[in-house]
Amino acid sequence: MKLTMRLKESRYDIIIKNGGLGRVNQLINLNRKVLIVTDDGVPAEYAERVKAQCDEGIIFTVAQGEGSKSIDVFAKLLGAMLENGFSRRDAVIAVGGGVVGDLAGFAAASYMRGIDFINCPTTTLAQIDSSIGGKTAVNLNGTKNIVGAFYQPKLVVIDPETLKTLSARHFAEGLAEAVKAGLIADAELFEMFENDDINEKLEEIIYRSLVVKKNVVEHDEKEIGERACLNFGHTIGHAIESYEKLGGLCHGECVALGMLPMTQNASLRRRMRTVYKKLGLPCSVKYDGDAIFDILKHDKKAAGGEITIVTVKQLGEYALEKVDTASLRGIVKEGVR
Ligand SMILES: NC(=O)c1ccc[n+]([C@@H]2O[C@H](COP(=O)([O-])OP(=O)(O)OC[C@H]3O[C@@H](n4cnc5c(N)ncnc54)[C@H](O)[C@@H]3O)[C@@H](O)[C@H]2O)c1
Ligand SMILES: [Zn+2]
Repeated sequence: MKLTMRLKESRYDIIIKNGGLGRVNQLINLNRKVLIVTDDGVPAEYAERVKAQCDEGIIFTVAQGEGSKSIDVFAKLLGAMLENGFSRRDAVIAVGGGVVGDLAGFAAASYMRGIDFINCPTTTLAQIDSSIGGKTAVNLNGTKNIVGAFYQPKLVVIDPETLKTLSARHFAEGLAEAVKAGLIADAELFEMFENDDINEKLEEIIYRSLVVKKNVVEHDEKEIGERACLNFGHTIGHAIESYEKLGGLCHGECVALGMLPMTQNASLRRRMRTVYKKLGLPCSVKYDGDAIFDILKHDKKAAGGEITIVTVKQLGEYALEKVDTASLRGIVKEGVR
């Protein structure tokens, strides 16, 4: 399956194919220096498979986890390119999840003001969501994604077979973003989660989720307006994620929880919970509404007393609504019961 992202200043293919990781050189020129960035939790054979297709491939393995999205590690990647004499015609390939993609993408965006970036995502979250759209970033002093660039890849190669080695929990949490895509823009995608065998339909689920994101990004690349719909579930989700007392919940799990209070339709909420159970995602969480609201208020999106929230009233349709902080406090306190 193939999609093409068509933006004002760039255009690139997104290939979804079992075994795709072994065929990157059929899709783009790898007869040049290529920095292959991966992390030590990703099976090493994936980066090796890509390296085997490069004339001069160099594998750079960072430690797994969010901690690698740092200025330090970013500088090490740039240093490796400089040391190995990378020029503007060389390239960076990410082989891993969203951490590797964000980090390697930002390094590609920065080295010599931008060299080719190819993304080979290997987690459900990265295949469904983070690998397309051009957001790259690292964290600074505890603030997530605060330093980065909009920098589009030249090519995205999604090999669903790589998901077989992912832990069941990571596999499921990434699917929360696909459920999100269905809720905001594709009723049939949501219904696939209700009615179908997810493993059998995985390629189609990835494809349809990417279509939703692609359509949004094509209309609003720099998140001036409509792209905010992709944050459905993320406003409360992020607050739940960073509330340490609830420690241990993954991003996708928090997004799943965060979508519930923003879904203003009781029967749809019931359907969502049934899907969550099927996927092994949490259906409820007990929290202190005031504490969660305090975290949320500090979120950059809460600037200016008003906050734009994304709501869903009917399956497959979202609305962007400006609410004051008092109303939001009410929604948060109501919680995810
Ligand atoms: N750029 C964007 O638009 C965007 C969107 C959403 C999230 N993100 C970012 O993505 C990051 C989270 O990404 P993630 O959920 O993919 O996490 P991740 O990159 O940390 O990967 C999760 C874990 O799975 C391991 N792993 C990866 N692929 C594997 C495989 N095929 N088999 C076995 N293990 C594998 C990794 O080593 C890691 O330990 C966050 O930093 C978030 O900010 C970016
Ligand atoms: Zn997300």
